[in-house]
Amino acid sequence: MTAPARIDLYSDTHTQPSRAMRDAMANAEVGDEQHGADPTTNRLQEMVAELLGKERAMFLPSGAMCNIIAYRVWCQPGDEVVCDKTAHTIHNETGAPAAMAGVMMRTIEGERGMFGADQMREAVRPKRRNVPFSRLLSLENTSNAGGGSVWPVGLVQEVCEAAADEGLKRHMDGARLLNAVVESGTPAVEYAKHLDSTWLDLSKGLGCPIGGVLAGDDDFIERAFRFKHQFGGAMRQSGIVAAAGIYALENNVERLKDDHENARKLARRLAQIPGIAIDASEVETNLVFFDVAGTGKSGAEVSEALLARGVHIGAPGSTRMRAVTHLDISENMIDEAADIIAEVVS
Ligand SMILES: Cc1ncc(COP(=O)(O)O)c(C=O)c1O
Repeated sequence: MTAPARIDLYSDTHTQPSRAMRDAMANAEVGDEQHGADPTTNRLQEMVAELLGKERAMFLPSGAMCNIIAYRVWCQPGDEVVCDKTAHTIHNETGAPAAMAGVMMRTIEGERGMFGADQMREAVRPKRRNVPFSRLLSLENTSNAGGGSVWPVGLVQEVCEAAADEGLKRHMDGARLLNAVVESGTPAVEYAKHLDSTWLDLSKGLGCPIGGVLAGDDDFIERAFRFKHQFGGAMRQSGIVAAAGIYALENNVERLKDDHENARKLARRLAQIPGIAIDASEVETNLVFFDVAGTGKSGAEVSEALLARGVHIGAPGSTRMRAVTHLDISENMIDEAADIIAEVVS
């Protein structure tokens, strides 16, 4: 593995904890989290529960664990989770829904990771003895592989109401929920009120080294705690890392708008480079997907050439690339990266 690139646009998970965040971590008051006795973790959980308007929240080591615990709580083995075809839980979580919750994934052909109530209804199975039980609706906001798209809250409401009518629980993968919140101006609680469970990732745009926080009602969190232990996610003096989360919620939320501005700027610059295909108008938050097929090079070749010039951008498809802005990326770096990309693909 290599050291971080000078201009690291690979992912918002590549952020470095700031000096002030590290100070907050070093000074955290700690206790035994497994016994509910870590005051800093408890404080973080209260903050997230309040932010999302839920009864309780639970600190976990990762976002993937937030998803899989929610699936495990809501579903029985053999049940189906209804979600968009691009869902992170399908493609990037090592098959955990099948391995650890025993569920099947029923996919919807959405647009940029989003879909409507009618499509959701069509995906729900008829209640017959010989078919799987549709148990859970799982949305992703922002949608990662959908291009960082923001679900309008009205659409969330429509889809969730339809799911409730069909007897499904509603879960949202909120890895980048606060990006959706600052971009749309919709308070997190307005999204969360349509959901039975949702979570925030601390280790993405918020700049923390570790962690996600899952929220729901009291009964959900109580059941979730059992799986947290079972999956090896119960911790001890977790306040050391929870302190980073508190710092991030107090200091790093509003500034996510800067990341979105930088992403749009990068998209506009990319749109001017011959051979690169991108619809800059679709870039809403901090994820910038583009295609390099027209340059005659593969995504991997472009990625490698960029890395040699100090710019790290991933290639999730053969010619599809993804650049991600975050708090360690300045506007000047965007200009420099765009210049280097233009040179590399020319
Ligand atoms: C949409 C989405 N969900 C879940 C995750 C998993 O989060 P974590 O890396 O904290 O496990 C990610 C990580 O990239 C993601 O983008």
